[in-house]
Amino acid sequence: MTAPKPLIAGNWKMNGLRASLAEARAIAEGARTAKGRVAICPPALLIPLMCEMLSGTNVLVGGQDAHWEAAGAFTGDVSAQMLKDAGAQLVILGHSERRAAYRETDAIVARKVQAALAAGLEPIVCVGETLDQRNAGDALAVVTEQVRASLPPELAGQAFSVAYEPVWAIGTGLTPTTAEIEQMHRQVRATLTTMFGAASETVPILYGGSVKPPNAAGILHAAEVGGALVGGASLKAEDFLGIVNAL
Ligand code: 13P
Repeated sequence: MTAPKPLIAGNWKMNGLRASLAEARAIAEGARTAKGRVAICPPALLIPLMCEMLSGTNVLVGGQDAHWEAAGAFTGDVSAQMLKDAGAQLVILGHSERRAAYRETDAIVARKVQAALAAGLEPIVCVGETLDQRNAGDALAVVTEQVRASLPPELAGQAFSVAYEPVWAIGTGLTPTTAEIEQMHRQVRATLTTMFGAASETVPILYGGSVKPPNAAGILHAAEVGGALVGGASLKAEDFLGIVNAL
């Protein structure tokens, strides 16, 4: 089976105004010779502008969350169908910040994944343990259960990726060791194979949590790492391209 193309996705979180589009333009310029797929997931309001600006480049645009319904009385929410209509191709779902701050459960994430697929978006489904869970020796079990319960059967045969983001590594400058990353990614791969069969070997398993240019090569070349989900370092073209070029 051919190796899947790695994906480097930038999660801008709640950062970015129209002036930030210049960074996206610089990212597209620098990513022309990228060895993998490159995506930026800006705040929803920037998606239409960014899609217009990046059309014809090889940088994809994604959302950071989507509601499980296509439309309805859900004040303040954005649906997968709306993201698709705005030009997005991917969507991050189940990020730990949403799981923690908005009480998103695995079951909710699974419904959002179904909605994303129905809208024609490629989901990036996030999982990851807290520091307490890791210290208690529960990291593998916690993440395995998140993968099992957050990924609905409809994903079989569809394009998607899983992002392993240890909560304690996000925005902290801390990262697991290469051995810890490989152990977790192998576990996620085994779980995917159990759930979806051998065809899921092409599903990229991204690592996320304090990926920066200096540590990117080591992380991206670790076993079963199929790319990165990048927060802070995706906001500046120079930093993000330093990670893209580490592929
Ligand atoms: P940082 O790269 O800022 O640690 O954020 C990671 C993340 O949460 C990406 O989704």
